[in-house]
Amino acid sequence: MAMKEKVDELMELRKLARQGGGKERIDKHHASGKNTARERLALLLDEGSFEEFDMFKTHRCHHFGMEKQEYLGDGVVTGYGTINGRLVYVFSQDFTVFGGALSETFAEKVCKVMDMAVKNGAPVIGLNDSGGARIQEGIESLAGYTDIFLRNVMSSGVVPQLSGIFGPCAGGAVYSPALTDFTVMVDKNSYMFLTGPKVVKAVTHEDVTTDALGGASVHTSKSGVAHLAADSEEQAIDYLKQIFSFLPQNNMELPPKRPTNDPDTRQEAYLDEIIPDNPNIAYDIKEVIKNTVDDAYFFEIQPNYAPNIVVGFAHYGSISVGIVANQPQHFAGVLDCDASIKGARFVRFCDAFNIPVVTFVDVPGFLPGTIQEHGGIIRNGAKILYAYAEATVPKVTVITRKGYGGAYCVMSSKHLRGDINYAWPTAEIAVMGAKGASEILYAREVQSYDGDKEAYMQQKVDEYATNFANPYIAAKRGYVDDIIQPSRTRFRIIKALVMLENKQDSNPPKKHGNIPL
Ligand code: HXC
Repeated sequence: MAMKEKVDELMELRKLARQGGGKERIDKHHASGKNTARERLALLLDEGSFEEFDMFKTHRCHHFGMEKQEYLGDGVVTGYGTINGRLVYVFSQDFTVFGGALSETFAEKVCKVMDMAVKNGAPVIGLNDSGGARIQEGIESLAGYTDIFLRNVMSSGVVPQLSGIFGPCAGGAVYSPALTDFTVMVDKNSYMFLTGPKVVKAVTHEDVTTDALGGASVHTSKSGVAHLAADSEEQAIDYLKQIFSFLPQNNMELPPKRPTNDPDTRQEAYLDEIIPDNPNIAYDIKEVIKNTVDDAYFFEIQPNYAPNIVVGFAHYGSISVGIVANQPQHFAGVLDCDASIKGARFVRFCDAFNIPVVTFVDVPGFLPGTIQEHGGIIRNGAKILYAYAEATVPKVTVITRKGYGGAYCVMSSKHLRGDINYAWPTAEIAVMGAKGASEILYAREVQSYDGDKEAYMQQKVDEYATNFANPYIAAKRGYVDDIIQPSRTRFRIIKALVMLENKQDSNPPKKHGNIPL
């Protein structure tokens, strides 16, 4: 064959490979409101940056008539490209080829990009849309999944791993996204579960829809399996890109700086008045965050799960940070099991990838009660404590109001190697709130008081609040480094982060710690 014909043949084959499972299946896929695997990659990556691997790879299955059904690329599009000029490895499952089901060769393709990502120090983004294990392949498919899981674990903390769920993700297949750092789902069009509604019905007699069992809403509000629910595929891709923009390429690099015109010295008089006079009245901690970060741009993660703690990414003076904040607007910002787990995982992620952690504290304590105690608040609360204690990234903390009891200790306190700990003048740092403390300390005295017992107790509460529920006792001991004007919080945080840019800290040599899982 002449050279020209060979080139033409190649171009034809490439065209064929790009057609996935064929026009009919692509039309059906589009009709269900979905983009194809390649269209999703085009949305994700810089135009013209995608370089594909293994376009000609096909399956090796010779059962069930599979030898007569071959599709170039075998149901997954893999390779690398850039997002805003930064390298990323990608795989995108193609539902039009055997429902995106995973075969031995499909897994090999995914493993190849995962291995390259670690070797070359760049993140991996996986776009999932698959019927799970390719039934015709059986054990080879299970082996393939497990090869991917192993790589997910080995890559964890080495390169960032992000997952998008654009369709089915069921059975053991869910464990690969679950092992990645952040998972974004498309509302109504994607689901994740170990066993589907039919099996659930057979085993537990429950009637449940696919969406109610494992849709985006459930996983971003109840189970905590996924981090963000998007209204459309385009929005899901945008979320993945936004998360990516805050992250370094790997654990040996610092996150990229984001230039800003927002002055470091910007003051917000509003913050000098944000804390209500009554300590039982809530305010929105996100207002504090938005008023202090660069350009009011705060990218919240898991907004609907355990909303009593807020986590997300932002920049201070161009420096990428992870923010953790108690939210007085939800359950008074109390720490419960879910909030502790959410905060802990986020802090550990930031620490793994050299992202400083800025913490805003307004926490009345851990949530009491049998539900929490029996749910393991001791074990789960220990997670956030552990995460902050082991973190060696710069840690800057601002106590805006309550810092009570054990919750004060765990929220990036000085005692857990907080680098810079500030308090607002409204801070109340004590073992417990004035009312609770007075009721224990003065119960007997009040009981034997002859006059108005209620008024007398209130007097004791007020005395306690004045004498103990303030930041000055902690400041006298150096547990807070300074008491700052709220309006100058942005400036003070930025100065601290710049000062800490070359921070070096380490933990004792060990194989790994034993975080109370
Ligand atoms: C092979 C599959 C497949 C699979 C779908 N297809 N799932 N082929 N293996 N697992 C094929 C279909 O035969 C069909 O082929 C095409 O993909 C589209 O599927 P449809 O059923 O027509 O699409 P839809 O109605 O949208 O339903 C999608 C679906 C359903 C909900 C995913 O196909 C389904 O339930 N599939 C089986 C899911 C499953 O049980 N997987 C195994 C889970 S166990 P044609 O040729 O008609 O286009 C597992 C274990 C992993 O994953 C363990 C890891 C440790």
